Amino acid sequence: MGSYTSEINRRRTFAIISHPDAGKTTLTEKFLLYGGAINLAGSVKGKATARHAVSDWMEIEKQRGISVTSSVLQFEYDGFCINILDTPGHQDFSEDTYRTLMAADSAVMVIDGSKGVEAQTRKLFKVCGMRGIPIFTFINKMDRDANDTFDLLDDIEKELGIATCPINWPIGSGKAFQGVYDREKKHIMKFSHTEKGTKEGEVEIVPVEDQDVLRQTIGEAAAEKLLEEIDLLDGAAAEFDLEQVRAGKLTPVFFGSALTNFGVEDFLQHFLQMTTPPLPRKSDVGVIEPDRDEFSAFVFKIQANMNKAHRDRIAFMRICSGKFDASMEVRHVQGGKVLRLSQPQQLMANDRTILTEAYAGDIIGVFDPGIFSIGDTLCMPKEEFRYEGIPTFAPEHFARVRQIDTMKHKQFVKGVSQIAQEGAIQIFQESNTGMEKIIVGVVGVLQFDVLKFRLEKEYNVEIRLEPLPYEHIRWIVNRDIDLDKLTGTSDMKKIRDLKGNPLLLFVNPWSVGMTLERNPGLELSEFGTAEMS
Ligand code: G4P
Repeated sequence: MGSYTSEINRRRTFAIISHPDAGKTTLTEKFLLYGGAINLAGSVKGKATARHAVSDWMEIEKQRGISVTSSVLQFEYDGFCINILDTPGHQDFSEDTYRTLMAADSAVMVIDGSKGVEAQTRKLFKVCGMRGIPIFTFINKMDRDANDTFDLLDDIEKELGIATCPINWPIGSGKAFQGVYDREKKHIMKFSHTEKGTKEGEVEIVPVEDQDVLRQTIGEAAAEKLLEEIDLLDGAAAEFDLEQVRAGKLTPVFFGSALTNFGVEDFLQHFLQMTTPPLPRKSDVGVIEPDRDEFSAFVFKIQANMNKAHRDRIAFMRICSGKFDASMEVRHVQGGKVLRLSQPQQLMANDRTILTEAYAGDIIGVFDPGIFSIGDTLCMPKEEFRYEGIPTFAPEHFARVRQIDTMKHKQFVKGVSQIAQEGAIQIFQESNTGMEKIIVGVVGVLQFDVLKFRLEKEYNVEIRLEPLPYEHIRWIVNRDIDLDKLTGTSDMKKIRDLKGNPLLLFVNPWSVGMTLERNPGLELSEFGTAEMS
């Protein structure tokens, strides 16, 4: 047992994901309310306040009314120390969202009961699946007319390829919403609006053993329907199996209404019991256990200009083992230096606070003078190892970028390189050309606007973007291959990333297969890793 085991074991670090508008912000606020981190959810005016405090850093965000950045909140609840990694709500910022998932031990997926699985949820899910991240599903807005419950579960199973296990079951929806049936405790939690915005509101609990009481409580028709559904469910639904949940193969499903604060605390309590304390992480010297005494962490996100007064960057890191103490020296492995992390900070509810200590599972943001890259490892000075790299997610849109004023070449290169280092865009060079013309790849097209905007505002460089037709990018896994001899299809383009790794761009997905066929031995991958060099 390490010296910090008890502190580490009480930590729970999860990402909260959803399609925009499903209710992620509202649910997060209610969590904070239970944790006492804010007084009354009602007194915080929705997302405006919550998001302002943490991400009021870019005009484009205000202009478009979307959240570009993601934030981390920490709060205490029932002896647990909880870190919530919020993810950008707009689908165009999904690469950052993907990376945020790498820092979490589990994910809470919020689904709008009237919409089911939506595009963004599907994408994020793929990433959770890749890492076997456990997923907990909260089907929200049951106070509005929702889809048939079985259909909702079917939808999750089919669309996301994961088994579902409802922990509770809704009784009606919309105006007819009467609450949920707890399948384990075999009682009903009655829905009421009265607890809106407070944490004191008591939920009325009615056991269903006595069917007469059940009928009196929810009415004849609803009782019949519920009994029928319970029967069906007990026969058809997957059994609850914690191991399967933790392996990311089974998602426990909860129903509720974040806005009216119904089912939120119940969800939180179940979730905290089901999810794990900080998990061990893989490195090049083997698995690193979280409760060893030596500190280690990796950088998963870099954010520019959070504070407009200074042109600073914040590197967010997940602590993977031991304890962080603001006065200690750490080794930045990729940078080859021993240093002290400056201005370590943590976001507590809506405030940024300077922290003095943190433990495995926690997320800290430190001032970055431009030395950190996504995926970098920090450890004790006497150690030297690297955490498994964070994959580079395949961009789906590409454009050739040129500077308008060629005199500003230096600023241009500096700007695009720095923005790429933060991970908002990926930059490539066409084979055999320099940096005058570069190809930028992004996960969502809005990032092109962000790039243009930031180059103008921060680097005083105007650019012209010429969209390219490519949509599929592949990293070449077997690097010894002779790129010049590679024979592809007519729609294929050979490029290199800044580290010199060869890549291929394709317009059509079938060209990928064709190229593989024409070049025996060639191995292609949809993901690059930060470790490639
Ligand atoms: P997001 O972070 O996932 O994008 O969603 P957010 O919580 O901002 O919620 C989106 C809208 O849905 C908000 O309304 C919010 O009040 C509403 N909402 C969230 N949970 C529930 C629920 O359980 N039931 C109902 N009926 N509505 C819910 P808005 O009018 O767009 O924003 P606001 O002005 O209320 O902030």
